[in-house]
Amino acid sequence: MIPLAEMAVQVLTCAGGREKTALSRKLAAAWQAARANGDTPAIGHAAPPMQPSRPDKPDLLSPRDVPHRKPGSEAGRIALLHAVAHIELNAVDLHWDIIARFSHVKMPIGFYDDWVKAADEESKHFNLMADCLEELGSHYGALPAHAGMWRAAEDTAEDFMGRLAVVPMVLEARGLDVTPGMIKIFKQAKAASAVAALETIYAEEVAHVAYGSKWFHFLCGRHELDPKDAFHDLVQRYFHGALKPPFNEEKRADAGIPPDFYWPLAVS
Ligand SMILES: [Fe+2]
Ligand SMILES: [Fe+2]
Repeated sequence: MIPLAEMAVQVLTCAGGREKTALSRKLAAAWQAARANGDTPAIGHAAPPMQPSRPDKPDLLSPRDVPHRKPGSEAGRIALLHAVAHIELNAVDLHWDIIARFSHVKMPIGFYDDWVKAADEESKHFNLMADCLEELGSHYGALPAHAGMWRAAEDTAEDFMGRLAVVPMVLEARGLDVTPGMIKIFKQAKAASAVAALETIYAEEVAHVAYGSKWFHFLCGRHELDPKDAFHDLVQRYFHGALKPPFNEEKRADAGIPPDFYWPLAVS
């Protein structure tokens, strides 16, 4: 088996959406099989690209140029699923990127187990959203999508703790806040497969945020930092804008993020 950091770069440099997620799932399965067998595979080192490879479509536009559609219409629901598919594909790359980019930092093997599992789940999430789009006669790439999704990765390319603070503990935690509202929209539209897919995503994302919190706290302990102060400092340094309430306090608590982490960073 090739070292994990090299697997990560293979996924990052694979362009197609379905191709990227298929490769990601295949490599995650190989890692998990080796771990189940009692092996400790090599992490190695490999330089990740500054930008991951992506398909020719969707066109990537500045957020203010992406047309807004009302979620009450089928076109609006397709746009919502398309936006989530785009987020999930970005999440696949983010999860492999952290493995390769910070492979020079010595971490316990459990860190890699968590990130490989989450990368596999993000790949499944993209496939679920792509399936839902196809069921509605659309597909990933049919609409424009937000450029700038990779910004958090670029901003924290040199700062491992900054990456953990911004990606799982701010961006993925935000997913916990907004997903119940999306599920409601698809329930009202009686779109059973979208409801089931979003419920799977919602359940699995709690663990992704929890992995972020767990390894952020681990690194705070290693460097003798106060976790709350370190979190506030890093989010203010690397995240552009305030955090938006309402917060899903219950799921955030499940994921190990207490209120005094996020409320002081919220817009009032
Ligand atoms: Fe996801
Ligand atoms: Fe996630």
